[in-house]
Amino acid sequence: MGRAMQLPGDDPDLSAHPKLTLRRDPYTYSVETRNGQTIYSVSDGTRTISIPVRWSMGSGAQTWLLEYDGQFYESLVSYYPSIEALDLTIGDDRLTPSTLEAAIGRPLVTDGVTTCFGCHSTNAVLNRQLSLKTVVPGVTCEHCHTGAEAHSQAMMEGDMSVYPPALGQLSTERLSDFCGQCHRTWELVTRAGWRGPSNVRFQPYRLALSKCFDGADPRISCIACHNPHQQVIRNTAFYDSKCLACHSAAASAKPPHAKICPTAKSNCVSCHMPRVPLSGGHFVFTDHDIRVVKPNEPYPY
Ligand code: HEC
Ligand code: HEC
Ligand code: HEC
Ligand code: HEC
Ligand code: HEC
Ligand code: HEC
Repeated sequence: MGRAMQLPGDDPDLSAHPKLTLRRDPYTYSVETRNGQTIYSVSDGTRTISIPVRWSMGSGAQTWLLEYDGQFYESLVSYYPSIEALDLTIGDDRLTPSTLEAAIGRPLVTDGVTTCFGCHSTNAVLNRQLSLKTVVPGVTCEHCHTGAEAHSQAMMEGDMSVYPPALGQLSTERLSDFCGQCHRTWELVTRAGWRGPSNVRFQPYRLALSKCFDGADPRISCIACHNPHQQVIRNTAFYDSKCLACHSAAASAKPPHAKICPTAKSNCVSCHMPRVPLSGGHFVFTDHDIRVVKPNEPYPY
């Protein structure tokens, strides 16, 4: 998460692909990197708008926040490592820009810019205002570890920039909400009515749907399976012991009496946490709605 936002110049993907282009009639996009400087351009054949990239969001896939004529835009095209190329930014496939300015990307209202920085960087939001002078790229230590008593009130009011101390002592439920400030909570997703496979990326919401979830049981908290200080472990066998903490003969004798699998003894997540591709996004997420997956079942919720 430390690399959730990057400054151009530090970026190995862009340096390795110094000229990226994408044609989307009637516009042509190019993202060129030279001497640590990246320029995002869009052209209609007669006129070209070129914008130096200052803010890059995401460490795998990346989308750029562009400033043009006093306005912030979310770039209409993004870089995807799985195809090592540009494609439309996820969710933008239905936009049909009618001017060259509109073709830069989705214009962001101030709130949109602030929340973007709020989740992808540190110290970007002071007194609920965007503060580009103090911004530190990525989710750094302070972003999760500062925030004293005085700030917990702000958190209750929905201010995402403030966190309580002693994170290891939070209950499973509260930790889901803590991580959910960026990864999206059950409450937010439910209230917003975000249904269908695109909500697979909201792990706190998906996990809360699973029969395994118990807001008071530390064995099913985000930090039971993930160390927020490291990259996610991409090895299904690693998670077996996490499941067996409840689903084993010894553990199931005690409440909550989780059952034992009649089918297999290892690689639990390969069957019970299916991988769901995100349409148009060139990436795959792991469904945290842990369950028995029925053949041909529709995506649950
Ligand atoms: C509520 C917090 C939040 C806001 C607001 C937010 N993001 Fe993110 N973003 C995340 C999280 C968490 C991830 C990692 C998990 C995922 O991909 O959903 C992410 C991932 C990404 C990725 C990389 C996808 C990947 O996993 O490789 C990009 C690119 C991105 N965001 C761009 C943006 C841009 C641009 C904005 C502002 C318009 C924005 N985000 C606003 C939380 C947020
Ligand atoms: C995404 C949020 C997040 C970020 C960023 C983060 N931490 Fe943590 N950190 C946590 C959580 C959650 C725990 C509790 C984990 C546990 O108890 O297993 C924790 C625990 C710790 C602990 C153990 C003491 C305690 O409070 O339980 C130390 C030390 C620590 N973090 C240092 C750091 C440092 C140094 C950085 C920056 C390099 C950092 N953390 C970045 C979330 C974060
Ligand atoms: C019981 C174990 C378990 C728990 C609890 C859990 N995860 Fe995961 N998580 C996984 C597994 C397994 C993967 C996929 C690892 C792989 O690719 O091999 C994963 C992947 C992820 C990813 C990477 C994106 C993806 O979908 O592959 C994120 C982000 C994530 N988890 C966040 C969370 C958050 C936030 C919570 C708490 C709400 C949470 N996880 C709770 C097991 C767990
Ligand atoms: C301040 C916002 C924020 C908070 C709080 C936060 N995350 Fe994240 N997290 C992100 C963003 C942004 C990304 C995507 C970074 C990227 O594109 O690499 C991410 C990525 C991840 C990943 C995937 C990393 C990888 O290697 O692909 C995991 C796992 C994860 N977060 C777990 C957690 C857990 C567990 C917590 C709670 C302890 C947490 N996060 C809290 C913003 C946050
Ligand atoms: C905190 C304890 C706990 C953990 C950790 C846990 N589960 Fe569960 N799980 C339960 C409980 C309780 C139930 C409901 C009773 C039952 O069906 O066993 C359940 C139900 C299930 C079910 C049946 C759900 C259905 O659709 O009927 C599956 C499959 C499952 N768990 C797999 C897993 C896997 C795989 C993991 C690890 C990634 C895991 N569980 C982690 C407690 C847990
Ligand atoms: C090869 C795929 C596969 C793997 C690997 C696997 N399971 Fe299952 N599991 C299933 C299927 C299929 C069912 C449903 C069986 C049925 O209903 O007859 C099931 C059922 C379950 C149930 C519900 C049992 C019940 O009586 O309702 C639990 C709990 C469970 N598995 C946990 C796990 C755990 C924990 C692991 C790892 C130790 C695991 N599974 C590994 C396929 C798998």
